[in-house]
Amino acid sequence: MGHKAFSTLGLLLGVFLLALQTVCGDVAYSFPEEMKRGTVVGNIAKYIGVEVGKLGARKARIDADGNSKRYCDINLSTGDIIVADRIDREGLCGKRASCVLKQELVLENPLELHRINVHVQDINDNSPQFKKDTIKFEISESASKGSRYRLDEAHDADVGQNAVQRYSIETNENFRLNVISKSGGGKYSELVLEKELDREQQQELTIVLVATDGGTPQRSGTAVIHVVVLDANDNAPVFSQAVYKASLPENSPLDTVVVTVSASDADEGVNGEVTYEFDHISDESNNVFSLDPTTGEVKVSGSIDYEELSTYEMQITAKDGLGLVSSSILIIDITDVNDNAPDTFIKSLTNPIPENVSPGTEVGIINVQDRDSESNGQVRCFIQQNVPFNWFRLSKTIILW
Ligand SMILES: *[C@@H]1O[C@H](CO)[C@@H](O)[C@H](O)[C@H]1NC(C)=O
Repeated sequence: MGHKAFSTLGLLLGVFLLALQTVCGDVAYSFPEEMKRGTVVGNIAKYIGVEVGKLGARKARIDADGNSKRYCDINLSTGDIIVADRIDREGLCGKRASCVLKQELVLENPLELHRINVHVQDINDNSPQFKKDTIKFEISESASKGSRYRLDEAHDADVGQNAVQRYSIETNENFRLNVISKSGGGKYSELVLEKELDREQQQELTIVLVATDGGTPQRSGTAVIHVVVLDANDNAPVFSQAVYKASLPENSPLDTVVVTVSASDADEGVNGEVTYEFDHISDESNNVFSLDPTTGEVKVSGSIDYEELSTYEMQITAKDGLGLVSSSILIIDITDVNDNAPDTFIKSLTNPIPENVSPGTEVGIINVQDRDSESNGQVRCFIQQNVPFNWFRLSKTIILW
């Protein structure tokens, strides 16, 4: 036990001394990662000046440096250093630009130690990857041109040219892409608003973002940019008609629906909630009609007399939740109803008249009036009893003679 411990110490001491001796005798190879087991990295025999045939006798073998794993082996019949285990540059060195795998070749009789440094070259075995498949944005349609939206960076486990080099987006109307190189290396991109969004035209956009590396063959990764366009109160209500015309018989009872006005607003929510009101109302029209602020229903709310006013004209305003307004005209034509009886006024009368008065002598003027119009206002006059008077009508004035 004690003897063995002593000899182990001696061996370690020897290795230490030899290690010092072989510092300048390192063997270096440059070799790509991910090569198959058994692939030849290089031949070592000539570098260390040992005949191939003697490697077996010298018990040549590869030891890992320190505690690290053994990635290489030596073929004793050829002196080739071969791949013994998977060499994954990303697993060994991460994003470090230089990745050196250290192995040791040990020979006995006499004890000799050679360091083998394998410079592991990156191959483009990783694709750029975005952390999330979808990048979400909510952008107001009032966002101004030139607004920028930073996008997630894509990561590629490879290094140098094999890492992310470029970003691109599908051509679209609203955005272009701006790629920014970070001071510490790496690149990210941002969306730049080129043309204002319009929610009423397009409520959401989907744009594919592609990150590509510079390897051969080139690899890429994608993410979907999902833009939800938020509403801004950019639309005023629009009336279905510039002028509403309605016709209504006079004396229509209260609550008779005359017409329903309607304005639509392309905006959402409160931005699109429309209320109606009479804009300016003349004294004659006041309280004759009512307008429901939410339904736009115009109803009779007072007495309507054709003989007083035959046409009402009112301006109606539609207003959305945040105060954008537009207006329309409402014209209500009142139609006449025969609600007035003719009135008779005796304007002049010669009374009494002498019995010998000659026919054709004017004896009086009776004025007959009807406040209604057209046929409702036409008056027919006749004398009931069989009396010796004749008459003719002139306009609404009856002259008896
Ligand atoms: C060593 O190399 C020889 C010749 O190329 C080959 O036949 C043999 O299989 C190799 N041995 C190992 C262990 O790879």
